[in-house]
Amino acid sequence: MIRMSVTIGTPLQSSAFKVLLLGSGELGKEVVISLQRLGVEVHAADRYDHAPAMQVAHYSYTLNMADANELHQLIEKIKPNLIVPEIEAIATEVLVEIENKSIATVIPSAKAVNLTMNREGIRRLAAEELGLPTSAYRFADSLESFRAACDDIGYPNFVKPVMSSSGKGQSRVKSFSEVDAAWEYAQTGGRVNQGKVIVESQIDFDFEITLLTVRAKNPETGEIETQYCDPIGHRQDSGDYVESWQPQPMTEAALIESKRIAHKATSALGGCGIFGVELFVKGDKVWFSEVSPRPHDTGLVTLASQFQSEFELHARAILGLPINTTRHSVAASAVIYAGVDANNLSYHNLNNALAHPDTDLRLFGKPEGFKRRRMGVATARAEDTEKARELAQQAANHVQVQTNS
Ligand SMILES: Nc1ncnc2c1ncn2[C@@H]1O[C@H](COP(=O)(O)OP(=O)(O)OP(=O)(O)O)[C@@H](O)[C@H]1O
Ligand SMILES: [Mg+2]
Repeated sequence: MIRMSVTIGTPLQSSAFKVLLLGSGELGKEVVISLQRLGVEVHAADRYDHAPAMQVAHYSYTLNMADANELHQLIEKIKPNLIVPEIEAIATEVLVEIENKSIATVIPSAKAVNLTMNREGIRRLAAEELGLPTSAYRFADSLESFRAACDDIGYPNFVKPVMSSSGKGQSRVKSFSEVDAAWEYAQTGGRVNQGKVIVESQIDFDFEITLLTVRAKNPETGEIETQYCDPIGHRQDSGDYVESWQPQPMTEAALIESKRIAHKATSALGGCGIFGVELFVKGDKVWFSEVSPRPHDTGLVTLASQFQSEFELHARAILGLPINTTRHSVAASAVIYAGVDANNLSYHNLNNALAHPDTDLRLFGKPEGFKRRRMGVATARAEDTEKARELAQQAANHVQVQTNS
């Protein structure tokens, strides 16, 4: 017997099934496109006008989502069925209340959003409650306790503000002489001026992966089940991803261990949707690094490699619909940066970027660029990952970003 599932009405009419997206970047844009295809009414919010996902949504709102009052008012006004956070800088206490009062479903769960926005919450859950292997770590909230934490953990180590993402305020500390500068730098990179940092021992990994893990309902039983995409390999530069590829070859034992860790972490967070589980791998050994309860930037490669991209998987899973994580191709993605601090940019030489038939492009349409801002991504399919990486890089390099007066 097929069980009852979600009913989707007509957008812009009283029967509409409404999703409110909190954060409207390039990952949200692809989620919105997937939701649009299923007839969902989409409301997109961000702190600036014309953010990528706003450009493809039915309605958009510019507000400070970290302000509890503003966020609460917006939710009351829209009355969405689902709230889908796309970024971490949100007044998560509002989401906890919304969930408790059953006003809307928070994706994947208010607990998940709350715990993962803070490195301390997710690290303590993973290492101390779930017993997952992680780097050694200490927390510090003053220069003095930070110096002690660094000496305790040893060198080199990684320092990160607990409330930060995309490498902001992060540094790799090679010796005691660099400790004070790392503290200063961390104080500038946090989302809120909270001062707390995590100090992590350096893991000497062979490679790092994102294991996209989807919690979705089984169409026959209605039970939530866990499925995995093939592992995605990626290269990071200053805490930001520059290229990714799928699949990343690894030993059978390491893959089994990766899935065990991902299963434990995502089950503890709960709800339905996709999770980007970041893992470090050395031979058969795997360490948990962090997890985000939403599509992952390195997963942009799935636009080229899978029947259902990570965005479609997320859209289906949050609606309670069946999913298929099968990969059809080997593929890679390469990031396109603005390279300048300017708005109203133009993208040239696209004919050459797309000359190879197995390449594709996404330009995000961000209103403003800065040197290291991601403005687009190139993807490519090939017979092996080496070739796919080369093709994706070539395509990305062909794109010329120019300013307009
Ligand atoms: N303990 C560690 N040992 C070795 N390398 C590390 C360690 N911590 C971080 N790194 C390197 O730095 C990169 C960024 O670290 P991390 O993922 O913790 O922060 P982030 O990318 O800023 O967070 P987010 O993924 O939420 O944007 C990792 O992908 C990895 O390459
Ligand atoms: Mg990361």
